[in-house]
This record gives sequence, C-alpha cells and structure tokens, in this order.
Amino acid sequence: MNILTFDSTDKLNEAGAGIITGLIQTNRRAVLGLATGGTPVGIYKEVVASYERGLVSFREATTFNLDEYVGLPETHPESYHSYMQSHLFNYIDLPASSAHIPDGNAADLQAECLRYNMLLDKAGQIDLQLLGLGHNGHIGFNEPDHALTGGTHIVTLRDETRQANARFFDSIDQVPTHALTMGVGTILQAKMILLVVRGADKAEIVHRALTGPITTDCPASLLQTHPHLVVLLDSEAGRLFQ
Ligand code: F6R
Repeated sequence: MNILTFDSTDKLNEAGAGIITGLIQTNRRAVLGLATGGTPVGIYKEVVASYERGLVSFREATTFNLDEYVGLPETHPESYHSYMQSHLFNYIDLPASSAHIPDGNAADLQAECLRYNMLLDKAGQIDLQLLGLGHNGHIGFNEPDHALTGGTHIVTLRDETRQANARFFDSIDQVPTHALTMGVGTILQAKMILLVVRGADKAEIVHRALTGPITTDCPASLLQTHPHLVVLLDSEAGRLFQ
C-alpha cells in the first residue's frame, strides 16, 4: 500500500486527477470505476481541466459507478446519475453508452443487480477503482455488517450514512433508505484502487481501516489485502499516520 499525504486539497486533487488521466493516456481503453460524494468533486474538476487542455480523451474509455440510490429519479439533483453528469460526464468526450451506473429505479432491482454484474463481467477487470470512505468504514455503499457481498446488490443504508448524506438534501427524510452498490468482491478485483480521504472527521476511520484488523465491521479494512492500493490523504485525514 502506498499512502501519500498532501498539505493542500489542490495538490491532492491534482494528484488524484493525474493518476486517472495518466492511466487513460497510457491505455485509452481503460475501464474506470468511479465514485460520487463530496470527496472526488475536486478531482473530477482537475480531470475536466486536463481534458479541456487537450491532454486526455475518454472516447475509448468505459466507466462503472459504484452505486446509486434506490427510488430517487435520475433527474433528481442528488441522484448519482445527475452527480456524474454535472461533475464529469457533461464536460468530457466519454460516449454516453460507455458510462454505466446502476439503475436505482429499475422495476426489478434484483434483475438490475444481475444486469450490472454481467456488464462488469463483460468489460473485464476494472483498471482503476476510485473510492471515497464513509465515516463508518463503508466503501461504495458496502456498510459494516457480519458478512459482506461480493457482487452488485441492494443495501439498506445505515442511519449514520443517511445522516452524513443529509447535507446534500433539504432534510434527512429525503435521503433514500436503500441503494444499489457494487460489492466488495468486484471492488477488490480492480487492478488498482485509489482511495481518497479528506478531513479531520475521517482521521480515525482511515487509520483504523488501513492499520487495524481486517473485518467486515469495517469494509474498507479489506483494502489492506489489495496488491495495488494507493491512498491519497489530506493532512487532516492523515493525522494519525504521522
Ligand atoms: C460514493 C460512495 C461512498 C462515498 C463515501 C464518502 O459513490 O460510494 O462510499 O465515497 O460515503 O462520501 P463523501 O466523499 O461525501 O464523504
């Protein structure tokens, strides 16, 4: 595992974006696993800036998002479909047909999970999986539990996750109770994982995840088993590593 700590958010975002664009520059057909949430916003901004400077093209790339809320219309500003459009997809040349996000409004959610797993299988291994970290140690929406699921599945969001995400909605009642998420099996199969963590409020969980016991109580702790894990931390999140 390679842990890099940055003294400014700008430098962290540039480093994160540089890893993504560097991969696409060397492998135009790369498969990217993408995350949403507050953490990657600045990274996507830097990726867009590189695209606008003509340094990178996503025309032959493929993307798979980690997760999507269940029951939130795609057009809702807080759906992960909307998020990806407004932070990345609207500004780069990735073909719409190459961008995949689970459909949280599918009539048959189990069938949608199977469909997403089949798409992932067909695409082959994810080359680079971008991850944020939940305060409870979740990755994607794989919440702490006595057992974890390998492939895409339906999850009941924990109260603390809904509380954390309530900042994006008018009230907690509007935060969906369920989501579809890629499983930890799929995440761990990625060739490279880029975990990005910012903020003092995540210092303890990121330290526990990367140095504590490997346990399903902290899904991110499974990342310790990955042969090519790169972790980008700001100095606040990295406080306990110093
Ligand atoms: C988002 C995702 C989540 C977030 C995590 C951290 O697609 O899968 O695991 O990465 O909840 O969210 P932020 O970055 O908002 O703190």
